[in-house]
Order: sequence, then structure tokens, then C-alpha cells
Amino acid sequence: MAGSGNSPRPPLQVDRLAYSWPNGQIALQHCTLQIPRPGLWMLLGTNGSGKSTLLRLISGLLSPRQGQIHTALKPALVFQNPDHQLLLPSCFSDLLLSLPTGLAASERQLAAEQALEQVGLSDLIRRPIHTLSGGQKQRLAIAGALASGAELLLLDEPTALLDPDSQDEVLDLIRTLTQRQPRPLTALWITHRLRELDRCDGAALMERGQVGPWLDGATLRNRLSPLPDGPAKG
Ligand SMILES: Nc1ncnc2c1ncn2[C@@H]1O[C@H](COP(=O)(O)OP(=O)(O)OP(=O)(O)O)[C@@H](O)[C@H]1O
Ligand SMILES: [Mg+2]
Repeated sequence: MAGSGNSPRPPLQVDRLAYSWPNGQIALQHCTLQIPRPGLWMLLGTNGSGKSTLLRLISGLLSPRQGQIHTALKPALVFQNPDHQLLLPSCFSDLLLSLPTGLAASERQLAAEQALEQVGLSDLIRRPIHTLSGGQKQRLAIAGALASGAELLLLDEPTALLDPDSQDEVLDLIRTLTQRQPRPLTALWITHRLRELDRCDGAALMERGQVGPWLDGATLRNRLSPLPDGPAKG
């Protein structure tokens, strides 16, 4: 990630993005955001403020009407419901879908094992997916992102459907991955849970299609308590 001179290139730079849905609904306008360094960065905002649309634009699923997205990192989306993301019946077979093409069978086995090891699921390589807990499924979805070579994780309320222990499990994992050396990941994590703010490197509020400045997580938490809407608080 080396840039020119002494200043490394930021992992993500979004400049004046605009997006309208085909029905004319404006989702983003003059949306600017810079992630200054690898780490865990959180976005909060009321329902409909444009958070999910922004992640879809950064991932390349949607194309902006105006503005630019600069990143040298490969992005991967992780959704709220892992059942929408996991396609094949076993952990191993599902992970194979994420691996780069052209690997020999032994390389595929090794890459799948390494991805599962990074998310703490080494013992479950042959497990049918329907037997996993919600937190394990979410960790498997993250393993798929890692197996694909992604270094920019875009997580859209990844803990919204999980019980408190599983929420912590997924948050701990992303913390670890964003602090690992070498090559710490960059994660942009959308949440409605104020308590998660205590674990981030910076948090910003999204309002009416624009992202505010990065704040210390605890500062934003105090400012927002309680959020005007959203499914979960706490
Ligand atoms: N497929 C779609 N077609 C038309 N409008 C959409 C579509 N998806 C989202 N929108 C609209 O775009 C705006 C931004 O929605 P978005 O889903 O990005 O918000 P959000 O911040 O993720 O909300 P939430 O917290 O409820 O997930 C809203 O006005 C929403 O109604
Ligand atoms: Mg959303």
C-alpha cells in the first residue's frame, strides 16, 4: 500500500459520489469519505440515510451517477444475513467458490484451510452449513471474503441477526483481522448498535446521503444515545 513520498495512500477515498435509484429516489449526493489507514471504521445513520447504497457502490455492485471511488484494495461485501451469501452445502464447497480460478486441487485445499483458520473455523471444514450457528455462518462468509483475496471488507450490519455472544465473536474477529501484521485489513462496518462503537478506530454518522467526519467511537456514542431509529440499540 505504499504511496508517493512519506504519505501512504489511504485505503479508500470516495469523492463527491452521487447515486439515484432508477425510480428517481436520490440515495447519495456529494458523498465524500476517506478511510485514512487500515483498521475498523464504523458508519451509523438513520434508516434510509444511504449506508447500504454506499457499500454497494464501493463494492462495484452499483455504478455512481457522479463522483469517484479510489482504492487499490479488492473489496468484498458481507451482508446482514449470511444465508443470502452462503451458497453450497458444506463449508469447504462454499469456500471453493471464493477462491481464485486456476489453482491445483492441493492448493485449493490449502487456501480453504488457511481461510478457515483465520476465522477460527478450522475444525469445521466438512461441516454442512445448515448445522452452523449464526455467528459461525457469518465467520464463514468472512472466510470467503479472505479466500477471494479481499483486503477491504464492507460489512452491512453483520451482527444485526446474531445473539450477543455471536455479535462479540464476529466483532472480535474483524478487530483481529484489522490489526494483524503484516497486511492489516481495512473494514467499513455499518451498525445500529451503539455498544459496537467502543471497538472501532473511528466512527462517522451518515445523514441524507452524506458522511460526516470521523469521530472517536465513544464520542459519537455519547452524542447519539439513543439513536432516533434503527432495529437495535445496545
Ligand atoms: N432498490 C431500491 N430501489 C429504490 N430505492 C431504494 C432501493 N434501495 C434503497 N433505496 C432508497 O435509497 C435510500 C437509501 O437507502 P439505503 O438502503 O442505502 O439506506 P440505509 O442507510 O442502508 O438504511 P437502513 O438503515 O434501513 O439499512 C432510501 O431512500 C431507500 O428507500
Ligand atoms: Mg442498510
